[in-house]
Amino acid sequence: HKKVPSVQEMAKKKLVRIPSRYVRDDQERSVASSNREVPVIDMQRLINSNDHDDSINIELQKLHFAAKEWGFFQLINHGVSCSVVEKMKHEIQKFFDLPLEEKKKFEILPGDTDGFGQHFVVSDEQKLDWADLFALKTAPPYLRRPIFSKLSLSFRATIEEYSEEVKELTMKVLKMLGKAVGIEEEEVKSLFEEGMQSMRMNYYPPCPQPELVMGLSPHSDASALTILLQVNETEGLQVRKDGIWIPIIPLPNAFIVNIGDVFEIFSNGRYRSIEHRSVVSSEKERISVATFHGPRWDGELGPANSLVTANGQPAFKKIGVDEFYEGYFNRELVGRTYVDTMR
Ligand code: SIN
Ligand code: FE2
Repeated sequence: HKKVPSVQEMAKKKLVRIPSRYVRDDQERSVASSNREVPVIDMQRLINSNDHDDSINIELQKLHFAAKEWGFFQLINHGVSCSVVEKMKHEIQKFFDLPLEEKKKFEILPGDTDGFGQHFVVSDEQKLDWADLFALKTAPPYLRRPIFSKLSLSFRATIEEYSEEVKELTMKVLKMLGKAVGIEEEEVKSLFEEGMQSMRMNYYPPCPQPELVMGLSPHSDASALTILLQVNETEGLQVRKDGIWIPIIPLPNAFIVNIGDVFEIFSNGRYRSIEHRSVVSSEKERISVATFHGPRWDGELGPANSLVTANGQPAFKKIGVDEFYEGYFNRELVGRTYVDTMR
């Protein structure tokens, strides 16, 4: 990836006009215009009805609908402890508040994706996102990069706690999704129990001309499942449903959860990895952290056997997980174009 300047530093300069590399073309600036809302799933209900093995599991049906029709939902009563979430928010805010010189010690190295900087910059001509990011592989521990141990003790401890709790939640949701779509639990476990987890912390500074830029270009996630935590109050995430951009207004104490390309492939296309983007504000900074859960690094990705044997034709080819991820990161981030090359 090519190096780009810190947008947070640029925004401090109170520019009147923003540099042209950040100015999007007209058709990329289609504004969101809808009052529809992504579904809300109650994790506690999902677990309770599963334990009692209800023949009609209403919450599981809601989950199925959300995954099939939206690829996105808000998850309430998720069980991740409030104190860990609050510590995580505090540490992330503290990290981005560090002087640039300090953050530069964590700069993304050539050929890597971990660190402070920006992803998906492959040419000097492409448009840039109005944001800085800090990305880390968090689990399994052997995937952690040396910069992980350079973090402050409190940040590291908090990330480890958050990582474990979110992993536990993610596995529960993945098993439920498997159940809803007809994949055996053993198959879900064998691909994802030792799966890769990474975090992407996003910092979107205020922008004097917010309507001209994109905080994060439209894309679909590579992950199986993404758990997004809104760190401060500013909203900005939008999802594309039936061609229209719809803003997500985060519920208090909820996570925003979405299906990624890996689960679209695993579900043989029955659940969709939906395009989303983020926009920025003229006055307020916005901070978020996405936790991505993927398959095991040494695994093979393809439609689940339980689905292919039941439904006939696989809709996607099989590919090594390592090859799949290398392809995802070595390009510009544009819409859903990547997953469709896997057919
Ligand atoms: C993401 O796609 O990583 C989420 C962007 C955000 O809401 O900040
Ligand atoms: Fe995303």
